[in-house]
Amino acid sequence: MSFKHENVETNAGVLLVLTMLAISVGGLVEIAPLFFIKDTTENVEGVRPYTPLESRGRDLYIREGCYTCHSQMIRPFRDEQLRYGHYSLAAESKYDHPFQWGSKRTGPDLARVGGKYSNEWHVQHMIKPTSVVPESVMPNYPWLLSTKLDVSDIGDRMRALRITGVPYSANQEEYDRNVKQFGEPVAKTLHIPNAVQNLVSQAQEGNFDGDRSSVSEMDALVAYLQVLGTMVDFSKIKPEELVKFR
Ligand code: HEC
Repeated sequence: MSFKHENVETNAGVLLVLTMLAISVGGLVEIAPLFFIKDTTENVEGVRPYTPLESRGRDLYIREGCYTCHSQMIRPFRDEQLRYGHYSLAAESKYDHPFQWGSKRTGPDLARVGGKYSNEWHVQHMIKPTSVVPESVMPNYPWLLSTKLDVSDIGDRMRALRITGVPYSANQEEYDRNVKQFGEPVAKTLHIPNAVQNLVSQAQEGNFDGDRSSVSEMDALVAYLQVLGTMVDFSKIKPEELVKFR
């Protein structure tokens, strides 16, 4: 027996083939069921695609490399739930392409940071984190406030996401389908032909950066941060259920 094992370990070709075989079988057993279990793909009420403004904020989150220090995935452990709130549901990132789960946490998880702070706090924190959290090691991002948001390609960006399965609507039929699925106020924000107009009006109404006269990159990033983790209403869930696991 040990002789045969030695043969495998000293023969690179055989070892390679057998390793690949073992990984393929293991991978299949682990991954294939996920495509068929209802839980992995179940719809959760409230989850919707990002509005054009939030979506641009997400682009900036990726551009600035925020994911190198922040995760967006609350694991189903007691300590994580006590600190961050209800564990992340698969459905909450179903419109994220690519998802921002991450695993590096130099800073805290941001999956439910929406609504935790005011817009003013975020603006101040982005310009100079140490001005609100003196011990912070997060870099300054002052240019977000002084840079006007480029909205010229928002339609193309939404069309690209549409190819990956995000239900942004390009015509009346798709719009009507979204009205049925998400309700009219949300469906309006998902309509590609009106993207620029929707983006600007959300920025003005939300007043994310404290200046309604123009749309800055800060508007988009704060709008994005403020929606994270707020789509599903967890208020109906009792605290003791937060630490109960399946
Ligand atoms: C070098 C690592 C690093 C990078 C890069 C980074 N952060 Fe942070 N972030 C931190 C740390 C550390 C904290 C905790 C201290 C603080 O609040 O500043 C934090 C805190 C935060 C908080 C407050 C979270 C809470 O629950 O209190 C937000 C929001 C945030 N970061 C957003 C961002 C965004 C958006 C970006 C990208 C533009 C970013 N961070 C980039 C390290 C980083």
